[in-house]
Amino acid sequence: MSTETLEKTEGGAQSAEGASPYITATFRIRRFNPEISADAIWEDFQIEIDPKERVLDALHKIKWELDGTLTFRRSCAHGICGSDAMRINGRNRLACKTLIKDINPEKPITVEAIKGLTVLKDLVVDMEPFFQAYRDVMPFLVTTGNEPTRERLQSAEDRERFDDTTKCILCAACTSSCPVFWNDGQYFGPAAIVNAHRFIFDSRDEAGEQRLEILNDKDGVWRCRTTFNCTDACPRGIEVTKAIQEVKRALITRRY
Ligand code: SF4
Ligand code: FES
Repeated sequence: MSTETLEKTEGGAQSAEGASPYITATFRIRRFNPEISADAIWEDFQIEIDPKERVLDALHKIKWELDGTLTFRRSCAHGICGSDAMRINGRNRLACKTLIKDINPEKPITVEAIKGLTVLKDLVVDMEPFFQAYRDVMPFLVTTGNEPTRERLQSAEDRERFDDTTKCILCAACTSSCPVFWNDGQYFGPAAIVNAHRFIFDSRDEAGEQRLEILNDKDGVWRCRTTFNCTDACPRGIEVTKAIQEVKRALITRRY
């Protein structure tokens, strides 16, 4: 385990007006580079940072000022693109939505890749199995008949039926927090079911039966053990377990 320290920046200097907002925080990051070693190691980085900043800011500081080889995904930096889900202090979160002050910076903050998907390098995992499950549930509107000459109307009540599951940003925090998925990557996983739910309960869609049959598979909804990890992990506050339960009920009653 190596420790690297960033010297205080001008922002970290004690100002005459008052105490510096900066603290020294230790980020303990799980590093993996298959070109160097088959084993992952924990590496500590100490940085001066304002605790009101986010874990993503800390990762940028480490990458840009201490070790340019640190590898992670991010894009929007505002909780929209879903690319920076990672395990922070043992819990799946978006690095761009996690404030350092909220995760006890008095102790080393652990950061590692999400579980259940193959780690390619440092915090980057192979998302392909996750997106394959997403594609498998047909996450698009299916209709038959002639193209309408105007928009397809829907009542506010019908729209409300699947409002929660439209919020998914495909970050994989739910699927990679699911013990069933850890043990068997064949399971569709919560995110795919959430996205199936979004169309199954859409009154304009005509492929609900098809999607239900796909999820009736041995790797489908029945694998869910209702541990609620997915609901706890979702950064969008989606009631993931509830959505899975609704799909199970629709499979039994064939009413949706
Ligand atoms: S349901 Fe929530 S946790 Fe799962 S992929 Fe969508 S946004 Fe991420
Ligand atoms: S970087 Fe886009 S959600 Fe965090």
